[in-house]
Parts: sequence; C-alpha cells; structure tokens
Amino acid sequence: MSERTLARLSRWPLRRQLVAGIVMLLVVATVVIGVVTVAVQRHTVLDRVDDQLETVLEAQRSAVEDEAQEIPRMRARSVVVIEADGVEEVAELTDESGVVSPLSDAERHQLLDGAGREPYAETVQLSDHGSYRVTSAALDGGGQVVVGQSLSEVDQTIRDMTLSFTVVGLLGVTLAALGGRWIIRLGLRPLERLARTASQVSQTPLAEGTVSMPSRVQDQDTSPGTEVGQVGAALNRMLDHVEDAIGRRQSSEDQLRRFIADAGHELRTPLAAISAHAQLMERRRTEMPEELGHSSQRIRSESQRMGLLVEDLLLLARLDSGVPLAEEPVELARILVDVSADAQLTAPGHQWHIDLPEGAADLTVRGDAARLHQVVSNLVNNAKDHTPEGTSVILRLRADRADAVEVTVEDDGPGIPEELQPRIFDRFVRGDGARSRGDAEAGQGNTGLGMAICAAIVHAHRGTIRCESRPGRTRFVIRLPAAPHSAGPAASARG
Ligand SMILES: Nc1ncnc2c1ncn2[C@@H]1O[C@H](COP(=O)(O)OP(=O)(O)OP(=O)(O)O)[C@@H](O)[C@H]1O
Ligand SMILES: [Mg+2]
Repeated sequence: MSERTLARLSRWPLRRQLVAGIVMLLVVATVVIGVVTVAVQRHTVLDRVDDQLETVLEAQRSAVEDEAQEIPRMRARSVVVIEADGVEEVAELTDESGVVSPLSDAERHQLLDGAGREPYAETVQLSDHGSYRVTSAALDGGGQVVVGQSLSEVDQTIRDMTLSFTVVGLLGVTLAALGGRWIIRLGLRPLERLARTASQVSQTPLAEGTVSMPSRVQDQDTSPGTEVGQVGAALNRMLDHVEDAIGRRQSSEDQLRRFIADAGHELRTPLAAISAHAQLMERRRTEMPEELGHSSQRIRSESQRMGLLVEDLLLLARLDSGVPLAEEPVELARILVDVSADAQLTAPGHQWHIDLPEGAADLTVRGDAARLHQVVSNLVNNAKDHTPEGTSVILRLRADRADAVEVTVEDDGPGIPEELQPRIFDRFVRGDGARSRGDAEAGQGNTGLGMAICAAIVHAHRGTIRCESRPGRTRFVIRLPAAPHSAGPAASARG
C-alpha cells in the first residue's frame, strides 16, 4: 500500500478504520479457509476415486491375464482400454446411463500415452468427454490395461462446495461487519463523550478574565478498569489542576489590580499637592536663583507626568477588571474632526488630513465617547511624537460592510522599529528614542502605555486594533462593531 493511501486511510474516523480492518481480516480468513478446505476435500475425493480405480484395474487385469475369466463390465462414467497380445483390443467408454460406446483413436492414444508413467493415477482431459482420473497397469504377457473414472461428479461437488463457501462467507462477512460496526460504535461512545469534553475545554478562553471551566468527564467514563476510563480520569485530574492554576492566576491578578488601583488613588492626592506647590513656586520664579527656578519647573513637569502615568495605570486597572464602559451612541466622525483640529494646533509642523465618507455622521458605534476619543488621540499623538516635522498624517473613517466601522490613522513617517511591532500593544513598550524624544523637560516624556490603553479600550468595545508598519508607511486600523442603525455610505470627501 502506498504511503499516500496509508495517510488517507489514517485520516478516516477510528470507527471506519476498525470496521474496514475487521472486514479485511475476515475476507482474508474466509478465503484462506475456503481454499484450503476445498483443496483438502478434492484431494480426499480423488484418493477415494483412485482407490476404486485400483480395484477396477486389478479386476480388469486379472480377467485379461486369466483367459478363463470374463472381462467385467465397467461402471457408469468410466473408460477402459486394453491392448494385449492375443486379446481383442478394447477401447470403450460407458456413459452415465450405462451405454457403452467406442473411444476414438485419438482418445485411445491419449490414454495409452499416459500409461505406466508417474504419477501412477493422473487426470486426463478427454476432448469430447471431460476430465477422467486414469490409472494403468502393464500386463505380464505384454500390453496395457488402462481404466479411468469420469471426474464430472467430483468437479460438480467441488463447484457446489465453492459456491456454498462463497455465499456463506459473504453472508458471514456482512453480518460480522454489521455486528462489528455496532459493537465498535457502542465501544467508542465513551471516547466520543471524552472528545466532546476535551473540545469544550479547547474552546474555553483561558488566557485572561474570569474563566469558567466546562463540566468534567462523567463518572461512567472514568472507571480505572478501562482504557477510556483511565484517559477520562486523567482528563478530569488535568482539568482540576488547570482550574486550580487559573483560579490562582485570577486571584493574583485581582490582587495586583486592586493594589494598582489603591496605590493610584493614594498617589493622586500627594501628586496633586506637589504639582500645586510646584506651580506656586514657579509663579515666583523671578524671586529665586535661576537654578532653583529650573528645579521648581522640573518638579512641576515631572509631577504632571507622574499624574498622567497614574491616570493611565488606573484606567488600565479599571479596564482589566471589566468595569462596564458607557454604552451611548458615539459619532466617530466628530471625534476624528476634533482630534485632527487639536493636532493641527499643537503640531502645525505636520500635515494633517482627514478623510470622511459621505454621510459620515451616520457612522456610529455604541460605547464610551471619552474613551474612544482617547484611542484616536493616542494614535494621533504617536504620529506626532514619533515622526519628524513635515510628516503627513491622515485620519480615515470607513464603513466596513454593514456591521463594522473602521478608523485608520496612517502616517508616512520612519515607521515602528521591527522588533517592537509584535509587542506594540503590550504595556510599557516604547522605542529607544521615545523617552528622550518626548519633551520630558516639558513634562511629556513617553510611558509606553499609549498603545496598551488603545488596545484595552478597543477590546472593551468588542473591537479589534491592528498595526502595519514599514519605513514610509505606518497604519493603525481600528474596527468596531457598528451601532444597529449605522448606515454604510460609499463616496468619500477629503478635508
Ligand atoms: N506612528 C508611529 N511612528 C513611529 N513609531 C511609533 C508610532 N506609533 C508608535 N510608535 C512606537 O511605538 C512605541 C509605543 O507607543 P506607545 O504609544 O504605546 O508608547 P509611547 O508613545 O512611547 O508612550 P505614551 O503613548 O504612553 O506616552 C513608541 O514608543 C514608538 O517607538
Ligand atoms: Mg504614545
């Protein structure tokens, strides 16, 4: 069997493989038993015919040699040829009804030719009369006696036997295949139940959030006495371990989230106080030596930066804990227009474009407007912070079929470093230049949380965000489920 056939067979369901295997073995066994039985039977019958022929031959021979004896009559379906000195030649065939007829010369020669040769008894095919078992003896006074018995009855018996064997064999194989199929189906049922449980487990998202494990393998399939039972029991033990591990993971994540939220809240007040005092000092900068003035300005900018960081961490902790966001209709075109207008003011060195389709006002999603504004604003800030002046940035809104809305922020800047791209949505991931390039002095150093926050907000809106970047083209695409009445316009207008 070729490797390809084997590979194709191995893809069959186990049930079919087993039934096919059983049927194949049964067919081989039946054929072997049939062939051997028929061969043995034929041999036995031929032995009996040979014995009878021996007796007949002996009788013929002694009658020919002893002239006083009359040559005995031959039995039905037999031939006799006698050729001896001083005796009239005989070459006759007796048919099934006892009628004696002479043999043709050719047949006579055919029978005499074989006489005296080994094997002693042999099967001869007489052209007009079928096959004959023939034996011969040399006469003492010279000459030959040949006697033969038709094998038509023996052949008929063997044919009948072969036919009955084939019919019974086929019937047996069919019944065995049906029975085997039923037994195998019954035997595989526990395995199917096991597979169902395993497939439920495989579909359970285990990586994050609150995980509820599917029910265990039923008791009937966990008996240690059966192979399936052993697998079932092992699967249950594994599920217990996994559930235990996930429970621990969840509780330690909850603890961490609570800690971050608590620490964030606690830090907010002293940070606000530091910032306020620093602002106060800054206002009286002229009264201080220049060095102190610079320090007070650094204290203010750094405390503002820390304030932003704390706000980001608090937001992430809140999103992680699954606190539901607002569920209001949000007009995405408005957000894009506002963010783009802000960007034009804060980064006039870049070229800002906005590409909205006709009827963009109808493209709404359900969610939290402030958070979605934050997502677009983070993307625009990146296009501003991580690209040189003169870079062209385009904000685009599209309906993607009837059920989704796509927001794209694309720039023709230097691109995101390749090694950063797979982790771009992870927390605290930022490029080498980000910390210094952001105007840390002015309190705008980068934290590397921007994209992580975008991803968390988009996921909380049941949407997706993806990033494609190469030098000269960086594109962030956000896809959000459209609000039910949101229409899909076609044409677009560039602003
Ligand atoms: N449009 C872009 N062009 C080039 N690099 C980018 C772009 N957007 C993001 N990056 C790279 O991806 C990194 C991660 O971005 P992310 O917004 O998460 O962090 P950040 O901008 O460094 O800090 P934050 O946004 O928290 O102030 C950035 O530091 C920058 O190296
Ligand atoms: Mg950023």
